Amino acid sequence: MLIRPRDNGFLHPFPSEITPRAAYTGRRALLRQLAGGAAGAALASWAGRAALAEEALYPPPGRQPTLPARRSALAGGVTMEKVTSYQDATSYNNFYEFGSGKGDPARNAGTLKTRPWTVTVEGLVHKPRTFDIDELLKLSAQEERIYRLRCVEGWSMVIPWAGYSLAELIRRVEPQGSAKYVEFVTLADKAAMPGVNSRILDWPYTEGLRLDEALHPLTLLAFGMYGEVLPPQNGAPVRLVVPWKYGFKSAKSLVKIRFVEHEPATAWNKTAKNEYGFYSNVNPDVPHPRWSQATERRIGEDGLFAKKRKTLPFNGYEGQVGPLYAGMDLKKFY
Ligand code: MTE
Repeated sequence: MLIRPRDNGFLHPFPSEITPRAAYTGRRALLRQLAGGAAGAALASWAGRAALAEEALYPPPGRQPTLPARRSALAGGVTMEKVTSYQDATSYNNFYEFGSGKGDPARNAGTLKTRPWTVTVEGLVHKPRTFDIDELLKLSAQEERIYRLRCVEGWSMVIPWAGYSLAELIRRVEPQGSAKYVEFVTLADKAAMPGVNSRILDWPYTEGLRLDEALHPLTLLAFGMYGEVLPPQNGAPVRLVVPWKYGFKSAKSLVKIRFVEHEPATAWNKTAKNEYGFYSNVNPDVPHPRWSQATERRIGEDGLFAKKRKTLPFNGYEGQVGPLYAGMDLKKFY
């Protein structure tokens, strides 16, 4: 059978188009009953496969509350590539606070308490403020952005996020003229996060952007994915997503945003300066000291014959963000 792409060019529906939860949970129950019931063997195997296909396409029911978002109209805000399955995006993660294995965050992050939660915005701003997470969530309209995320380790995913441009928050706190960089500090809670007891990184995990990078409309403050609130392993309740940089710049579970004059230290840069630079723009021409960055493996396209993809400069967002780096030697400022 020929499977035609949907009208919107995606194999994955937008959350706004997803069948109401009650309808598809009912359908799944029926399919499971058929699969397990007295129906003939052929029908049972068809129903089993159909139930599995639905599981892969839609988030498991009721795992996270829904988070409606309008589709982004921003240039670069929506890639036309096939979206990674929810299952893959929530079970293959880097979140060292919950362990260094890819399956550790999904296994361990259930201990993360996301309410009450506050994010303090401080430093060189005219209006420093501590936001309650629910206030922060409503500060601006939630937009669905479908971004590629390229990890420095050589894998990538395509994820439909919900959030708004970080610039919306920055505008409201009014940075002072001396503010040149933004530092992001994330939660380090030894009781809830077993990985924080390890010495792999100097906790808390911190990251940083130049102020103009932070103000770029593609830089997203994300609260959800796949039409739902972020699951803990993906950085609940609020994280950064910077799609043209290696994934480690996209700090999860933010608690503090600080405006500073000088380039801030970042967790991975402190650990291995020559391997993880401050800029870390995706760049196929600058290899990591221990491996090439020229190609990537798209999660979900594994298998013996799966072809690797060519990594694109700035992860494919060069048209939008290239001008930020005009005149800079990107081999030096890696
Ligand atoms: N944020 C925190 N606080 N701790 C981490 O270990 N890992 C980073 C980034 N943000 C990390 C983090 C890395 S290396 C990547 S590739 C992305 O999160 C992965 O995001 P994902 O699990 O949602 O795909």
